[in-house]
Amino acid sequence: MQVKESWKEKGYVDEPIDDNLDLSAEIRRLCKEKNAVVLAHYYTEGAVQDVADFVGDSLALAQWAAKTDADIIVMCGVHFMGETNKILCPGKKVLVCDLNAGCSLADSCNADDLKKFIDEHPGHKVVSYVNTTAAVKALTDVVVTSSNAKLIVDSFPKDEKLIFGPDKNLGNYINSVTGRQMLLWNGGCHVHGQFSLAGILQIKKEHPEAKILVHPECPSPIQAVADVIGSTAALLNFAIKDESNVFIVATESGILHEMTKRCPEKTFIPAPPEASESIGCSCNECSFMRLNTLKKLYNTLKYEWPEIEVDAEIAEKAIKPIEKMLEISKRLK
Ligand code: 13P
Ligand code: SF4
Repeated sequence: MQVKESWKEKGYVDEPIDDNLDLSAEIRRLCKEKNAVVLAHYYTEGAVQDVADFVGDSLALAQWAAKTDADIIVMCGVHFMGETNKILCPGKKVLVCDLNAGCSLADSCNADDLKKFIDEHPGHKVVSYVNTTAAVKALTDVVVTSSNAKLIVDSFPKDEKLIFGPDKNLGNYINSVTGRQMLLWNGGCHVHGQFSLAGILQIKKEHPEAKILVHPECPSPIQAVADVIGSTAALLNFAIKDESNVFIVATESGILHEMTKRCPEKTFIPAPPEASESIGCSCNECSFMRLNTLKKLYNTLKYEWPEIEVDAEIAEKAIKPIEKMLEISKRLK
C-alpha cells in the first residue's frame, strides 16, 4: 500500500473507519493474520492496554521486544520506545500509532548538545535513561530505565566518573541512593515535573491512612513525602503487596487502569498537578501517550504504517548500551 501524503502530513493513518466495527476484535484478528504483537506502556489509555498482547514499564517492554518472534511489533507508547524496539529487532517491522507521540524528556536532550557536554567532561562514562533518542543512545555507555538505574549505576566501580541524563530528578534520586556524585543533565518530564505538593498533602490529610507512590521522575520535594519511590512496575507491585487500601499515585494517571484491575478492592487517587497553563498542559496525563487510540492502532495494523526507521550507523552504536542494560538487568530479582 502506497503511503499517502495526507498520512505523512498528519503522522498517522487517517483512513475512515466503519463505526460499526468491533475495533478490539478487529485488532486481535489482524494481529493473528499478520503475526503481529501489540505492546503497550502503562501510560496509554485503558482500551489500548486491554487489547495489547503485553502491557509493561519501559524495561519490560524492551525485554519483551527483544525476545518476541512476531514479524510485526506495534509499540503503543512513545517514539523512543518504537526506536528501542527497532534497534533491538532490526529485521522486524516496528510500527507506532502516531509519529507525533514524542516525549518532553527525550526532547530535553539533543545529541549535539550532549556530545558537547561529554567533550567538556573527559574521562566520564555516559549513563542515559531509556527516554532518549537513538542518537543520544549512540553516545551512551549504558542505558537505564527507572527499574534498573540503581543496579546499573552500582555496577560501575565506585571511583568511575559518570554523566547521567537526561532526567535530573531521577539522576538526583540515583545519586542519593548510590552515594555517587554523577554529573547530571538538566532535563525533565512535563508530566512528572508538575505534581502539586500542597495538593498531595491535602489528599493525605483527608486520607491519613493512604500511602504515597512516587515515580523518580518527580522533583525531590514530592519524593520526600513518598512511602515508596519506583518505576511504574515497582509502584504497581508495591500497591499489590502492601496491606494499605488507599494510595495516592504521583505518576502518569494511565497506571491507575492496571492498578485498579489488579486490586479492585483498593482505592487509587491520582496526585493532582499544579494548575499551570504556561507549559501547555495542566493535567497528570501524558498528551503524547494519549495519542495512542484504538482507531489509530487499528489503522496502523491494517495499513502497516507509521513504521519506525533508525539510521543504520546510529543503530549499530545504540544497540550496545541497550544490550548492556538488558544483560545487567538479568541480575534483577
Ligand atoms: P517507566 O516505564 O520505566 O516507569 O518510565 C516511565 C516513563 O516516563 C515512560 O515514559
Ligand atoms: Fe515522556 Fe513524561 Fe510522557 Fe513519560 S510521561 S513519555 S517521560 S513526556
